[in-house]
Amino acid sequence: MDRIRIVGGTQLHGSIPISGAKNAALPLMIASLLTPETLVLENVPRLSDVRMLKRILGNHGVDVTVAGKRAGESTEDGEVVRLNAADIVDTVAPYELVSQMRASFWVVAPLLGRMRQAKVSLPGGCAIGTRPVDLLLMALERLGASIEIDAGYVIAKAPDGLKGAEIDFPKVTVGGTHTALMAAVLAKGKTVIRNAAREPEVSDLAECLVKMGAKITGIGTSTLEIEGVEGLHGATHRVLPDRIEAGTYAFAAAMAGGDVTLEGIQPIHLQAALDKLVQSGTEVIATNTGIRIRRNGTPIKPVDVTTEAFPGFPTDLQAQFMALMTRADGTAHITETIFENRFMHVQELARFGAKIRLDGDMAIVEGTGSLKGAPVMATDLRASVSLVIAALAAEGETMINRVYHLDRGFEGLESKLSRCGAKIDRIRG
Ligand code: UD1
Repeated sequence: MDRIRIVGGTQLHGSIPISGAKNAALPLMIASLLTPETLVLENVPRLSDVRMLKRILGNHGVDVTVAGKRAGESTEDGEVVRLNAADIVDTVAPYELVSQMRASFWVVAPLLGRMRQAKVSLPGGCAIGTRPVDLLLMALERLGASIEIDAGYVIAKAPDGLKGAEIDFPKVTVGGTHTALMAAVLAKGKTVIRNAAREPEVSDLAECLVKMGAKITGIGTSTLEIEGVEGLHGATHRVLPDRIEAGTYAFAAAMAGGDVTLEGIQPIHLQAALDKLVQSGTEVIATNTGIRIRRNGTPIKPVDVTTEAFPGFPTDLQAQFMALMTRADGTAHITETIFENRFMHVQELARFGAKIRLDGDMAIVEGTGSLKGAPVMATDLRASVSLVIAALAAEGETMINRVYHLDRGFEGLESKLSRCGAKIDRIRG
């Protein structure tokens, strides 16, 4: 298993190109099941989750090809992936595949819409809480599907096709909104999704579906209206930049100190996180091409954070912000409202000398003047990158074990950080 070694204490200076968003690329790839024509996705990040989803879609009969690199493209430019689901050969998504990546459960919606049936294993994925799918199934039932759960599988059927309906989500769910959208576009008649997730990745999916011929209004708001169509066609769509990757490097620059420009990110997608950074005493400057993050010697002020659905502070940046707060000049309170078990990084951050106490859904972080490098273990995707951030700011050497978690979500992590002066390398094995 690969490990990552970091020697901390160096400021970060330079620019980092931000990759396409994993959380947008995955539902976009799944949307290819909705049409017999080719969906071309540009700026797809090279990540193990993307590779896994290519395999899962291949299992359903999707023909996946990756276009070669064009002249002038740097290695950081994402892939151009062509997906063609002319022949769906299998409507079963087996446990062995779905258990490795939670998002693949969403294939249930396009399979139902186009093939009128699907048998999909209940998901696995990052170990952050119970993560139910009841609301996803509720949405499909509202659209007329019959749902049965048998031996760990969801068996969904709609022999006469799905029918438009009103779907009111009792809480904001990204997965639920993706599922409802992909099911509704081919349903007969009109669907209204209320309390829809407003995450930029949801809007990215909706915009791609519109390019494929879907009729959707209210994109970016919490009420989406969909007028079902007979069929969708092919399209070309560019995956939006990864706001979580950008936020992660922004916090890294703030913690280690220095001056880093994050290229290609849209500040509006990251506003809640940038506001907290500014409150912590970091300079955040919007440029023509992205955002510049600068902190030179000024102390890090403690800032309280509560995770919320978009446009609130994202749960996917909670662990990284906690790392930053371990060096603050005082005590910060970090409350996690989306997932009940998303504090596994706390015990690993403690190995650097961080002082963090847990009280229910709140972490109380007492900042310390300095952290010391240590051997640590990656536990889930976002937790593991919080260890990278802490290691960059810690004195001495850190060895991060189980880095396959990082490879699920961060494209070119070592090269992006080392081009800013970080001492980071991967030990293969
Ligand atoms: C969530 C995050 C998303 C993040 C992703 C990976 C939110 C709103 N969603 O998306 O930003 O990128 O994790 O870390 O911040 N729920 C149910 N029943 C369901 C579905 C969800 O009770 O059927 C609950 C979940 O337990 C959670 C909340 O609703 O408390 C939001 O979950 P949801 O947005 O669906 O999760 P993901 O799509 O995984």
